[in-house]
Amino acid sequence: MEEHNLDQLLAQIDMTRLPRHVAMIMDGNGRWAKNRSQQRSDGHYAGITSVHNVTEFSSDLGIKYLTLYAFSTENWNRPTEEVETLMYLIGWAIERELPELLRNNVRIHLIGDMERIPEGPRKRLFDCRDATAHCTGLQLLMCLSYSSRWEIADAARKLARAAADGSLDPDSIDESVFAGYLATAGVPDPDLLIRTGGEQRISNYLLWQIAYSELYFTPTLWPDFGKEAYARAIIDYQQRERRFGKTSEQVQQNPGSL
Ligand code: FPP
Repeated sequence: MEEHNLDQLLAQIDMTRLPRHVAMIMDGNGRWAKNRSQQRSDGHYAGITSVHNVTEFSSDLGIKYLTLYAFSTENWNRPTEEVETLMYLIGWAIERELPELLRNNVRIHLIGDMERIPEGPRKRLFDCRDATAHCTGLQLLMCLSYSSRWEIADAARKLARAAADGSLDPDSIDESVFAGYLATAGVPDPDLLIRTGGEQRISNYLLWQIAYSELYFTPTLWPDFGKEAYARAIIDYQQRERRFGKTSEQVQQNPGSL
């Protein structure tokens, strides 16, 4: 029944107008666990299955970039036990998924202040990232110890250093030069940002990059967000008209000009 439903949804997706880059805020693991009288860590564990499913679905559809908010700078303020569990789970899950990621030609990128990640999980993550460095299919960006303001401040620091040592002319700094100093340098901006768990906010995520992204909020809790829910988000995205500041008439007369 579920498969049939997914097939019906897939038939509604226009494969010629897929988002090139999808970003996700994976929210609702704690509430999912609470609803079942389970521990928060059980919710995070269940959330790994959704990470697997959205990665597989993105790869199968041919989406080029998937960016996941796995651990924010602010998440360091959670109880120590939860932080330790999350760090362990993320390293463990990526290591477990590595053979399939390689089979599917998926490359892992790590975005964030990796110096703050404890050495054990950091080594696991770096090893998995390096093992996929040759992969040219889906580019999977994992945001860890990440916040957008951290990233923008980090870029500003690097720009200031380059200007101070004479390797960068301050007058040459424009939007594209600045974007080149962000952790996402070279990656096109997200076309679609999905947030699960019912909240309608951005929570310090990709603030520069989502200037023109389509936003999709769903009450579905992250562990319940599967391929069908993802397909529905893409169908919703494809029904929108992206204008990038232009008029509807301009876009319709010359859709290729965007
Ligand atoms: C938000 O739910 C989720 C997180 C802070 C962590 C996301 C981590 C995973 C999905 C685990 C696996 C990740 C990878 C990359 C393999 P919440 O705890 O804020 O939920 P709540 O709002 O219901 O409390």
